[in-house]
This record gives sequence, C-alpha cells and structure tokens, in this order.
Amino acid sequence: MKATAKAPANIAFIKYWGKKNEKLNLPLSSSISMNLSRVFTTTTVEFAPVYKKDVFEFTKEKATFKEKGRVFDQLDRIRKKTGITQYAKVISENNFPKGIGIASSAAGFAALTLAGTSAAGLSYSQKGLSILARLGSGSACRSIPDGFVEWKMGVSSETSYARSIFPPEYWDLRNIVVIVGGKEKKISSTEGHRLAPTSPFFKERISVLEAKVKKMKRLIKEKRFTEFGIAIEEEAINMHTIMMTSKPPIFYWLPKTLEIMRLVWQWREKGLKIYFTIDAGPTLHLICQGRDEKRVLAKLGKIRGIRKIVSNKPAKGAYLVTNHLF
Ligand code: DP6
Repeated sequence: MKATAKAPANIAFIKYWGKKNEKLNLPLSSSISMNLSRVFTTTTVEFAPVYKKDVFEFTKEKATFKEKGRVFDQLDRIRKKTGITQYAKVISENNFPKGIGIASSAAGFAALTLAGTSAAGLSYSQKGLSILARLGSGSACRSIPDGFVEWKMGVSSETSYARSIFPPEYWDLRNIVVIVGGKEKKISSTEGHRLAPTSPFFKERISVLEAKVKKMKRLIKEKRFTEFGIAIEEEAINMHTIMMTSKPPIFYWLPKTLEIMRLVWQWREKGLKIYFTIDAGPTLHLICQGRDEKRVLAKLGKIRGIRKIVSNKPAKGAYLVTNHLF
C-alpha cells in the first residue's frame, strides 16, 4: 500500500486562466503545454492502519495548512474511488522553489495522484489519472501525459483532460527557467482564476483562445519556431494583462522580470532566436531551440542578480519509481 511517483512541472504555451467550475477545476478554455525535464516533484504515499489521521509534509520545509487541506482532499477522492478507509502518510519533495511561477501544483498533484492511486491498488488509464489530477489542481492534468500536451476544456469532468499531442523527442526545444527571486506569491493561482473575469479584457481573451490553441498545435506540428515564439510571448503578455487589470490587480512581475524581457528583445534584434513566456510568478521561461542553448546560457551568465538558471528539455509525464522517500 505504498508507492512513489515522479512528475514534471509543465510550462503552458497557451494558458489556463479562468474557470467555469471551481469545484471541478473545469477551465474556460483549452491549453497547451510542455513537460520540463529538470523541475519535478517526487511523492511517496502510504495507506496503512498505523496512521490515525492523514499526514502530509515536504522533505525540506513545512507544509502550510492550505497545502495540507488540498492534499487531504485529493486523498479523499482516491479513497472514494477504491473504498479504502485507511489514512495515509504523504511525503513530497520539490527540486525547485514553489509559488514563484514554476507550476509546483502541477508537478505536485500529478505525482500525488499517480502515487496515491497506485498505493491504493488502482491501475488507472492515463485519461483517468489526468482527470483525477485535474481535480487536485487544473494544470496538474497536463503533467500526466508525455511531452507536448493539450488539455481540451471539455464539457464535463469526464471530458476535461489532457493528452499528449507530440512525444518529448518530437522537437528539440529548451525551456531555460530563469529564477529572479521573489517570495512565495501572495495571490495564489486559484485566487487569480477567480479574479480573471473581473478584467474588462477577459471576455475578449476567452473568445479567441480556442483559435489560438488550434494555431499553436499547427505551429508545433510544423516546427515553425519564429511564429511559435511570437505566439507564446504574445500569449504570456495577454494573460498578464488580464492579471494586471483584474480587480484588485495582480502584478506577478519583478523589476528583474521586465529587465530580462527587454534583454530578450535586444538579443533577438541581434539575431538570437529566443522568446519568453511567464506563468503566475516573476520567473521567466526562456524558450529556444537546442542549437542555441549554449549561446543563451552564456548571455544569461553575464547578468547580475539572477538567482538560478535551469535548462529543461521536453520531458515525459508522471511515472512510478521504486525509491521511496520514507
Ligand atoms: C498561470 O493549475 O495552478 O500556470 O487549478 O487553481 O490549482 P488551480 O490553478 P493552477 O493554474 C495555473 C495557471 C498558470 C497557467 C497554466 O499553467 O496554464
């Protein structure tokens, strides 16, 4: 009754921001993402009679009351599916900081869902896992399948899940994560989704998103890097405009975020093929082709004040491992 899973964070190229059903995490639009090879969560779940209540901790830090509540809700969903009545111990390890725009809830709930269902003796289809992960955190459904992923919004809980559209090796892209600091965000993504419809531009955004998803799929399929780069950058700025014009407004960027955005534009003018996207935080996700990775890293190496740089390739989705955390 014990299992451990590892799941990648993912970066959205077309983003999920706004829900039509908060309880079920049903989005108002479809989204497209890529799993990341070097930022991930490992989680061990054990159901056993010795546990007199559910327990959840991270290996390196204390879990908050809110985080524990979300994990216990997910355990309840798993128990409901199996009829298991035992409590569980859950230990989780992120190899990256959470709450600064690197999709920790995506990696976390994908790992928890896979480890939890297999500890409970359930063997789920990828679709079933994606749906269950989505109930924990919307973007987690995209960290279950491999490589480049589409989450079709669907019309119900059973039809809203993610599937792989291309395997990791399909396109040799890099997502260079540039951590510029920042404390864990004050306004969580969950709260941000709630505020999104208060932006005067939100309706307009939603009305064009399905067309954007379709175009993005074509650009990835045909590996049209320049158009792809322009589209992801435009999409990130569009989502952040919604955030900044919500009531109350949410500003996730730091001065350093903007500084690096401007550098990316300068480097591009000089011929380097590099674009950015940003999730709900100050962290930048620079996107380039494998052949340009070294040049980008060399340029970033000269900038002062960056906390950490992690270069990622497209990666597979969640999988089970044999080394338990306890
Ligand atoms: C900006 O999946 O973290 O990263 O469903 O409330 O857990 P909840 O929200 P979450 O939202 C992710 C928002 C985003 C964009 C994206 O990943 O598509």
